[in-house]
Formats: sequence, C-alpha cells, structure tokens
Amino acid sequence: MADTYVGAIDQGTTGTRFMVFDHSGQVVANAYEKHEQIYPEPGWVEHDPMEIWENTKDVVTTGLDEADLDAEQLEAIGITNQRETTIVWDKETGKPVHNALVWQDRRTTDRVEEIQEEGKVEWIREKTGLECDAYFSATKTEWILDNAEPLKMEASRGEDVRTRAENGELLMGTIDTWVIYNLTGNHITDVSNASRTMLYNIRDLEWDDELLEEFNVPKSMVPEVRPSSDENTYGSTDADGFLGAEVPVAGALGDQQAAMFGQTCFDEGDAKNTYGTGSFYLMNTGTDAVESDHGLLTTIGFQMSGEPVQYALEGAIFITGAAIEWLEDVDLINNAAQTAELARSVDSTDGVYMVPAFTGLGAPHWDGRARGTIVGMTRGTRKEHIVRATLESIAYQTRDVAEAMEADSGVETTTLRVDGGAVKNNFLCQLQSDIIQTDIARPEVDETTALGSAYAAGLAVGYWDTVDELRDNWQIDREFSPEKDAEEVDKLYDRWDDAVEKSLDWARE
Ligand code: G3P
Repeated sequence: MADTYVGAIDQGTTGTRFMVFDHSGQVVANAYEKHEQIYPEPGWVEHDPMEIWENTKDVVTTGLDEADLDAEQLEAIGITNQRETTIVWDKETGKPVHNALVWQDRRTTDRVEEIQEEGKVEWIREKTGLECDAYFSATKTEWILDNAEPLKMEASRGEDVRTRAENGELLMGTIDTWVIYNLTGNHITDVSNASRTMLYNIRDLEWDDELLEEFNVPKSMVPEVRPSSDENTYGSTDADGFLGAEVPVAGALGDQQAAMFGQTCFDEGDAKNTYGTGSFYLMNTGTDAVESDHGLLTTIGFQMSGEPVQYALEGAIFITGAAIEWLEDVDLINNAAQTAELARSVDSTDGVYMVPAFTGLGAPHWDGRARGTIVGMTRGTRKEHIVRATLESIAYQTRDVAEAMEADSGVETTTLRVDGGAVKNNFLCQLQSDIIQTDIARPEVDETTALGSAYAAGLAVGYWDTVDELRDNWQIDREFSPEKDAEEVDKLYDRWDDAVEKSLDWARE
C-alpha cells in the first residue's frame, strides 16, 4: 500500500498554500499562489472569494501533481486561514454577494466609534474577549448587508441584500467556512475562527444573540461551530469533484492559532510569535480565559474533539512583514532578502524610528486612526537607516506585546518560538532576541501554520494518536540569545515609545 499523508490548505492574506506532511511532520508537497489585493478606497481592502476558491483548487492539484501523489493518499485535510476576513454568499448558488472584506479593512471605523461612544466596549470585551475594533467580522458583515449593491454581483439577483439575509437566503463566514463550504458543501466553522467574529461568546461557547442583534446579523446566516480537530469531520471532498477522491476535512484553525498548534504550544504558558503580513504573539493560557488589562485579546486557542476549549492571550500587531513589502513598493529595496544586508551595513538607525501604522495600530494601542510615521531624520539619513528602522519596528512592536503578555499572564517567557516568512532573516531574529532580551527558537519546519492545521486534521482521523508524537516532531533549526546590553536596549526602546506617540497624535488631530 502506498504511504499516506495529511494535507493542509493555508489560505492567507497574500496567497493560498497547499502542503502535504508525512508522519514525522516533514513537508512532502508545497504549492503556492498569490491573489489580487483590491483597494477600492484608502483604508479599504478586499479579496475576490471566487479567485480564492479557484486558487485553492489550483494549489491542491499542483501540489499533489508536483509531488507525484494521489488524493487517495491523503488521510485528511486541515484548513487554516487569514482570520476575521468576511464573506457573505447565496445559500442556493454558493456565489458571493460582495467581495470579501479583509481583516485589514478599516471602512467600518465610524461604526466602531459609534459603539465605543455608546459605552459598549466592556460589554463586548466580556462576551468576546476582543477590543471593539473594525478588525473583526461583526461590523464587516453588517456593512456588506447594508451596502452590497444588489446589481453588482450576479448572486444578488438584483434584490436587496439585507432583505435576502433576513429571509434566510444568505450565509456568512470567515475564510475557513468559505473553503470548508466549497470543499464539502457544509456550513461550518471552528471555535478558534468563531472567536474572531465579535459575534461569538467565548465563555458560553455559542453565538451571542445580543451581539447578533447589536450588529444586525440574522442568526440564520452564521455557521455551525465545531472543535478545531473534529473526530466527526466537517464532511468530505466529493469523489466527483476537482480532487477525484473522498477525503475527510477534519481540522480547522485560524492561522495564528494553527501556528501555535504547529509550534506544539499545547501547555499553559507556551508562547509563539508569527511574522507574516502582521505579527501575532499568542500564549496558551489553558482552560482559563485570562482577561487582559494591557490591550491584549482573549481568544480561543483550539479545541480537540470531546475536550474543553483552550484559551490564549494574543498580541495582534497589524503591520510587520507588510512594512518590508512597503519598502519594496517604494523602491528602497528590490526584495525582502536584501533588508538584512542593508541593515547590517550601518551600526544603527542614527536616531531614525519608523512606526508602520498603515492600518492603524492594533495591540496594545488599538487606535484605528493612527498612521505610519518616520521620525528623527537628518540630512545624513540614508535608505539603509530607514530599512534598519523598519526591521527594528518589527522587533519593538513585538516588545510592546511581550511586555503586555507578561503583565497580564504573570508568566515570563524564557524562550519564544518564532515562525513565518520573516524569520528566515537571521539579522531580524538576532535583533528580536536583543530587543526583547529573551532567547528565540526557530524550528526546522517554519511553515508551522500549515503544519498546525495538518496536525489538527490528522489527530481527528487517528493519523497521529497523541500530541506527544507531535512534540517529538518539533526540532530546533537555530536559537538566538540576547547579545546587546539590556540598559542600552531600554534607552532605544524609550525613544520607540515617543515615536509611537507621534503616530497616535496623527489620529488625534
Ligand atoms: O488576524 C489576521 C491574521 O490571521 C492574518 O494572518 O498570515 O494571513 O497575514 P496572515
């Protein structure tokens, strides 16, 4: 009999990846495709859900073909995804009534401020563990229902979208739900993704009727919520469909929770930081939903079949890797790999600080109107200084959330597990270790997001029996320890705070 594997679909902000893992957690197939970023107005970000689904099918078939694998060799498929991004579609045709509103989209900031002024921030935090912010799916869903133009998308059939939603004709979901729906025909999400909608009560573990009413989202639209690793499976792919095989879809996790799972942060106090478009620092807090007094989110980490939910504290930083993309957009660099060489070519930023608040600031500041800023430039400032300041901004933002994490959890992280595209950059890893004065561990398999969702799906179908097997798979590629003096770093970090104030000031004017 041919060897068997587990597949993972990682539908991220910039593209879609399909990976196949063997029993030791090693990668045997990997295919990736980018999709279009649509910016209809400043601060608005959309994706075309049909393009995402077409790309998903492409990467799955390409990944299998290139590795010379048959779909029958997959024992299960796991899904992981950019979180919060919201789609509304027609129950009959499966066609979206509007483009997806991406997590970075700020168009509902006015609505969020209205809710904040009504004094509902604490009420929302108690139920959802979240800051009242345009980042989450609640106001995005409301916006689509109130603003999708009936004639723009074929699926709207020229009828008023809100009326159709109230008649039970439309469904909503985050990207996991969209992918699961297209793969299996079932309207399902997992607890970790549900916890990012601002409509789900993370303590009662159910859709919250009062929040659904507050955000005018009909209950008939929301998906069924299941464990992240589900022995009952969410359904199977269709043997007559694009894959030509019936493969169970048995695990789903928001990408940051998936990375936590792939990094085997199964125990209370385990923490990881992922460097993607943004950075997301999560600490497992066990079965306790720890409340934050320092601007972090309380969120659902994961749930295994038949087991209680495990919670996490999260520092969500909106822009880190995207700041490097910006350097490329404005032609300061040709590619991301160049940043290390340029940054190393100068001893310091010469007093320059860059705060990449392009879509407002997330944790721990939560100010949707903050904007990017560069301060401290002189006539002698060179592009090398700006590049270095941009890399430093990634490390400083991580320190902001690391300090908040320690204060909220009372746990001092001794080794931080890191992953994501940017950790290939040794300069950044060393810088990060210096700035947070903590050891950094980079694992061998850095695609921990896909790995985490494969683990969730594989555990559900018995491909792996226990999480201990997964712990054994986790191997360190390289560790970084602080080399800079703590006092020197503290002084630089104080000035970072001043720079952040400038970026927040911009919002106050
Ligand atoms: O919350 C947003 C996050 O899930 C996006 O992650 O890796 O697609 O930028 P990424």
